[in-house]
Amino acid sequence: MRKKIVAGNWKMNLTYSEGVSLAEEICKRLNEAGVKNLDLMPEVLFFPPYIHLSQVTKISEGLKGVFSGAQNCHTEPKGAYTGEISAPMIKSTGATHVLVGHSERRAYFGEDDQMLVAKVKAALENELIPVFCCGEKLPEREKENHFEVVRAQIENGIFWLDETGFENVVIAYEPVWAIGTGVTASPEQAQEMHAFIRKLIKEKYGDDLAEKTTILYGGSCNPKNAASLFSQDDVDGGLIGGASLKADDFIEIIKSF
Ligand code: PGA
Repeated sequence: MRKKIVAGNWKMNLTYSEGVSLAEEICKRLNEAGVKNLDLMPEVLFFPPYIHLSQVTKISEGLKGVFSGAQNCHTEPKGAYTGEISAPMIKSTGATHVLVGHSERRAYFGEDDQMLVAKVKAALENELIPVFCCGEKLPEREKENHFEVVRAQIENGIFWLDETGFENVVIAYEPVWAIGTGVTASPEQAQEMHAFIRKLIKEKYGDDLAEKTTILYGGSCNPKNAASLFSQDDVDGGLIGGASLKADDFIEIIKSF
């Protein structure tokens, strides 16, 4: 069975102490719920801001199936890149994952396919699991071009990997029109795109790897709609923004499987 994941992308929210309190509260409640002993529960990931990462990793380390990651990384391991953070630095905190190609990084920081290839490479070289984000913008869906847009993002961003590399990648489908808007993709829309992505993987890497690849949905996922999204055959969990900032909501979403 492929891995189910619920991931919280905190984006640029929460001060250090607020972030630490949130991670502590969520982990405490997962622990009380006995979640660490329930293999049926999804893996839980925190993607806090960089400066919170080391402490959030320490907090999550006590719980089986709870991990943390960075929201971005630089392509180079070190050097004169003022203000940047490298994959080896992220790894050195004990974090295990890194988001690559979030639509906000693509839109506001000019991240293109070539840069994302280098970031995926940097992540894997440092034994970090890249959570590779893809998704179309509203005009692209309106023109019914969404499948082609996502196909190009995936082919250009991760299909250069060999099987061993690809095995360590998680995909997050996040339609840009659904991110932070309150407009969620319907379960049918999510399923349709996830099935399409899995078909691409099958054609490229074969049945086994396609069946094993975790594909998350992201975009206004909340406690009310999570269960219907997660019940779709090819939706293996969620990448949660706004609703990951409240312990109650995030816990509810984790329990939606
Ligand atoms: P949202 O964000 O849940 O607030 O829509 C999701 C994301 O951008 O990862």
